[in-house]
Amino acid sequence: MPDGAHIQLAQSSCFPLQKSQRMAGFDLQNYLNTKTEAVNGALGKFLPSEKTKPSTIHKAMRYSLFAGGKRMRPALCLAAAEACGGTQDEAMPMACAVECIHTYSLIHDDLPSMDNDDYRRGKLTNHKVFGDGIAVLAGDALLTQAFEILTHAPGTSRYSHRDLVLELAKSSGSLQLIAGQVADLEGEGRKTSAAQLKYIHERKTSALLCCSARLGGMGANCTSNQLKALTDFGYHVGLAFQIIDDILDVTQTSEQLGKTAGKDTASKKATYPSIVGMNRSRKIAEKLTSQAFASLKPFKSKGDALEALATYLLNRNK
Ligand code: IPE
Ligand code: IPE
Ligand code: MG
Ligand code: MG
Ligand code: MG
Repeated sequence: MPDGAHIQLAQSSCFPLQKSQRMAGFDLQNYLNTKTEAVNGALGKFLPSEKTKPSTIHKAMRYSLFAGGKRMRPALCLAAAEACGGTQDEAMPMACAVECIHTYSLIHDDLPSMDNDDYRRGKLTNHKVFGDGIAVLAGDALLTQAFEILTHAPGTSRYSHRDLVLELAKSSGSLQLIAGQVADLEGEGRKTSAAQLKYIHERKTSALLCCSARLGGMGANCTSNQLKALTDFGYHVGLAFQIIDDILDVTQTSEQLGKTAGKDTASKKATYPSIVGMNRSRKIAEKLTSQAFASLKPFKSKGDALEALATYLLNRNK
């Protein structure tokens, strides 16, 4: 089994939101371990083996993909599918596709010409091991691989295959994920307003998390009301996710994060703690998580996994 298949959950001693009754018996640790193992197995099959020529690129792609990420986007995708009555098997191509997009975005994010980071997922970054050229190409290849994997998701009566492709392309393209990364780079060292920062977070992070939940629902032939609920859920979880990422950069060690802590301050990045302060950042992330919970109402107990994931994402320590 690739590294990172088993996830240690963060201690959530300080969690201030009321855990709902229906979630009381939900075993998230077991859920995440099971989903991570299934996703890693599927990714391993979708990607060319390390031996496949040119082996350098396949080694580089697998190096970052199996370095031990939390697999939150696939987990949200699978949980959203199940909330809408779908199966894990049906949703798996979409879960793997969003993880490939995410891993590509991390490889490129770490490049010297972007955030210039040496560590990711507890290991040296892709460019540190394979060089800048191969790291750019490994990112390119994972981005392309995502769409190839998505061809395995056939579409449903409500959502054609075209709808699924469009969903992934729009969320990761120059109006969303890339737009956020552009604004993030251009904001370095500049005075950024809270509104501009929200614009960045909506795009660089929330868009793909939201897409992950939506694709899970669409692959399960969800109703338009269910899709609206998943969109609302994913949007709020996505915004909370990046605020927590910004907070952890300040509060955690590099060992804990598996990436260099304190980098945002050193690079003069616009972050929630730097603009609104630590306490207010935490409060905003809590409020966003409450808003995410509220959108799960229509799913009743089928939304338990999504609720547990949102709770975990708020309280994580890496
Ligand atoms: C890190 O994402 C990049 C952001 C969008 C903040 P994750 O925290 O999900 O990274 P992995 O997948 O666990 O490595
Ligand atoms: C990364 O945001 C967002 C994407 C890769 C799209 P960050 O730059 O804050 O992520 P980390 O802190 O390097 O993981
Ligand atoms: Mg960045
Ligand atoms: Mg970065
Ligand atoms: Mg960060």
